[in-house]
Amino acid sequence: MNTTDPDFRTPELDLLAREIIPTEHFEFSTETARDRFFHDTRMLDTKQRVHNVFRTNPRSMVDHMRDNLRLTGTEDLLDLGCGNAFVLEHLRPSIADGTITGLDNAPGVLDAARRRMLGTATPCTWIEGSADDLSMLDDDSFDRVMANYMIHYVPDLDACFREVRRVMRPGGIFQLTTDRPDSMLEMYQVHFTALTEMGAPADLHRATPKGRLSLDNGRPQLARHFDHVETATWQDQLRFTDPEPFMEFYRVGHNHCCASSEPDARLDEDFFIELRDRVRAQVVAAIGEKGHFAVTKYTGSFLCS
Ligand SMILES: C[S@@+](CC[C@H](N)C(=O)[O-])C[C@H]1O[C@@H](n2cnc3c(N)ncnc32)[C@H](O)[C@@H]1O
Repeated sequence: MNTTDPDFRTPELDLLAREIIPTEHFEFSTETARDRFFHDTRMLDTKQRVHNVFRTNPRSMVDHMRDNLRLTGTEDLLDLGCGNAFVLEHLRPSIADGTITGLDNAPGVLDAARRRMLGTATPCTWIEGSADDLSMLDDDSFDRVMANYMIHYVPDLDACFREVRRVMRPGGIFQLTTDRPDSMLEMYQVHFTALTEMGAPADLHRATPKGRLSLDNGRPQLARHFDHVETATWQDQLRFTDPEPFMEFYRVGHNHCCASSEPDARLDEDFFIELRDRVRAQVVAAIGEKGHFAVTKYTGSFLCS
């Protein structure tokens, strides 16, 4: 963590995390992500807006990423799973005389990225493809490679990291950003409490799919491919004084903590209406009691070279 960053951890939150975050996590295929989550930019737009508007850390996530990349202004940057280029838009002034290559397997968000960056003087190339097959890219062609909040969807992680090594120049930096499994634990707490009250199926009690490669377990997976792997952590706390922006974040941004990520014959519209009512009631109670509902984020990046 940067020395100027606030530390939101408390012994109570650590205890709560141990009590409520399951060891089993959701897992979704890259095709499910492409066809259901990222066929348009709704999910990304919702998350990006809420993370930005309700944050407490004055140093944003993109500031954290920019600091880690140690940019001089002329780098060739490859962004795997670039989404709608929200991060690239904010980094671009720091590589104004370099180049940007964004790769994503979802054509809808890639098109949004292209439109977002249209007309910028920094040359941009957009590639539709999967991060574990970079065969269209030459050896030693990038100074910086990023994979932010996307690695858990990539089918073949070893192939992806081998390819990153191949296309990255010696002395380059690969930044992989992901979460701790207990990130946003207050959202999971109100969600799991509502599920328990409703007697919902036990397999819905699972953690974020980022558990596949999280800040807790990612290092050995990366150390097989990179000589140096450092961890740079970053925290934030979203604070809501109105339940509705949180409810949109929970429903659209996180598919009800993954409960509505895929069709499930056991769960009909009435189930989700009741689930949201029960979650909203807890959020309203927290706002009444403390003045706001807090959602604590534990995230960060592996910096590999
Ligand atoms: C949560 S979004 C993150 C977007 C962006 N990196 C950011 O931080 O704002 C995950 C992105 O990964 C993309 N994705 C999923 N599987 C992929 C794959 N196998 N190869 C490339 N991109 C993939 C999705 O289409 C989506 O745009």
